Amino acid sequence: MAPLTALAENMAFHRRTQLAGTAVAVAPARERLIVALDFPDAKAALALIDRLEGATSWLKVGLELYIASGNSLITELQQRGFSIFLDLKLHDIPNTVGSAVCAAGSLGVNLLTVHAAGGTEMLTAAVQAAAESGLGILAVTVLTSIDDLQLEATGVTGGAGAQVEKLAGLAMRCGVQGLVCSPVEIPRLRSQLGGDPLLVIPGIRPEGAVLGDQRRVATPGTAIAAGASYLVVGRPITRAVDPGAAARAILAEMQGASGLG
Ligand code: C5P
Repeated sequence: MAPLTALAENMAFHRRTQLAGTAVAVAPARERLIVALDFPDAKAALALIDRLEGATSWLKVGLELYIASGNSLITELQQRGFSIFLDLKLHDIPNTVGSAVCAAGSLGVNLLTVHAAGGTEMLTAAVQAAAESGLGILAVTVLTSIDDLQLEATGVTGGAGAQVEKLAGLAMRCGVQGLVCSPVEIPRLRSQLGGDPLLVIPGIRPEGAVLGDQRRVATPGTAIAAGASYLVVGRPITRAVDPGAAARAILAEMQGASGLG
């Protein structure tokens, strides 16, 4: 093997092992909180980041902000030292998803979402395309906005819980690093899959916070105690009067639940 290839493979392996759930579980709270930048443009996102006062090392960029501000914003966030979770929820034929994952890998982002419902070949193409860069692939099972009735209308019977377990097992067998799921699914997925998969958890609401459109929620402490690897928090931080203070309060609750710094 050529030395450069060996070095690249080593680095990719190193990055992947950092992404195991068991390693993340002992990381400080600041490295397990992902702030969701649900903003219409880069200016608004950067203004929020300035107000976080270093409370997190992770940011999530979703479809709205990515379409509006693209790769220049990703580069700017990386230059500021943040790890990036690119939440694009890819779902297409295997060749198209594999090529998109390759492109995301060369951007240097750390985590990327694909839909588990894309099936074995699509998930495998995503995992293989990510291997060289060490990009972590997360599978989205059933969107938290979908209830049993809506799922049945798409032809899936048996309920959301059973479908989440089925898709989670499928995605893990294809080699993804982890799953995005609601806090209520953590205990069942941990007992089904063990400690290694990353479980990345939105639907986080501190005690007394406004739910907004989220339905299946838990507090930061409950989600960490149940086995969450990372918490994804948007509005409880981004819409707070003092986003830095809101983030620090969530970190304190996470630390209390994990017993870590
Ligand atoms: O504002 P809030 O804390 O509800 O934001 C949660 C973030 O997590 C949003 O960016 C949302 O798109 C994302 N998300 C979610 N449920 C999923 C997957 C992603 O809420 N199943």
